[in-house]
Amino acid sequence: MRILSIETSCDETAVALLSFSDTGGSVACQVLGEKLYSQAEKHAAYGGVYPNLAKREHQHNLPHLTHDLLQELNLLSDDPSVLCTDEMASWCDRDQDLFNTAKELFEKKAVHGIDRIAVTRGPGLSPALWVGINAAKLYAALWNIPIIPINHMEGHIVAALLSRDKCLITPAYPLLALLVSGGHTQLVLSESANKYQILGGTVDDAAGEAFDKVARLLGLPYPGGPEIARLAKEARKRDLTSSVSLPRPMSKDETYNVSFAGLKTAVRTVAEKTAFSEDEKKALARELEDAVTETLLAKLQRAIEAYHPRSVVLSGGVAANEHVRTAVKTLVQSYPSVDYYQPTARQATDNAVMIGVAAYRRQNVTDNPANLTADPNLSLAT
Ligand code: KG4
Ligand code: ZN
Repeated sequence: MRILSIETSCDETAVALLSFSDTGGSVACQVLGEKLYSQAEKHAAYGGVYPNLAKREHQHNLPHLTHDLLQELNLLSDDPSVLCTDEMASWCDRDQDLFNTAKELFEKKAVHGIDRIAVTRGPGLSPALWVGINAAKLYAALWNIPIIPINHMEGHIVAALLSRDKCLITPAYPLLALLVSGGHTQLVLSESANKYQILGGTVDDAAGEAFDKVARLLGLPYPGGPEIARLAKEARKRDLTSSVSLPRPMSKDETYNVSFAGLKTAVRTVAEKTAFSEDEKKALARELEDAVTETLLAKLQRAIEAYHPRSVVLSGGVAANEHVRTAVKTLVQSYPSVDYYQPTARQATDNAVMIGVAAYRRQNVTDNPANLTADPNLSLAT
């Protein structure tokens, strides 16, 4: 089974081709090719993701990335019968550039060796998601390939279930997932594959958002997470500690919710009064990393004690953070009966491989692809 997967929920335009083979008991997953273009630099001027810019970038880049991928893998050939129709054009009335670019690249081209198209349906930025959905619909119609719509957060969870030797891991259930990204922070309980219950989440800013917003206050470029991690690492090496102590909001209450907006407010209050020295910025980055990590750990530990999961997954863009990774891994490994999974740092942030893996596990082909819609608020809860 070969799956072409598409991810455009935020500011990464990503497409991948995965090949799965069930070798009696274990499933091997080979990434035949992957193209990922990060728009981060383009959004840096706005200090965060600007949805309409994301949409414009996806529209132009996604067909080109798809074309490069398929071309490099030698999967395209000439076929005069492959034509764009008025109906296809009508799906893209708000994504004209996508339609025109796809038409230019793919009309009169047949594709070989693709069994399914997987695409992120939500959650995410509506204009950005729609580009992926419309591209999937175009490809599906041009080449007569079924579509599997995917929840982006499920993609993050299963990104951790791809082993180093490229096999799909079948985790023991119940599985508890700590999802920490720029748009979401959630603790999710999964009693069995494809079944999810949201135990709690952020009541305001997501963990990645806290990193991004504090980074901005410190004059660091977007996305702030990797910058904060870099400064914090230096502060740890030189044992720099901040004169500012940030709150660990809601870490002692009875819920599984967290709140990170107070971190940015606390930093802003100090920033308005004093200019930070370079060393103080590093120390503050360390304090921020500690505050976010300790808050996450408190909630994760509460959930482990209450639900006795057999597996724990850490994922989402913030799971690329070394300090968070080490702290969460150490906590989970203190429970010997619990298996721990985290994606590689590269697969923690948005990518298309995770969407393809989720699609293989789901195999839920959509009945009526022409009616497929994006859902910016799509929930994991089932
Ligand atoms: O999962 P993701 O790529 O996109 C969303 O679905 O939101 O997560 C992006 C978030 C950004 O907020 C970014 O600053 C954060 O992940 N991030 C990090 C690191 N790398 C990315 N945060 C902390 N440390 C990192 N090393
Ligand atoms: Zn994400």
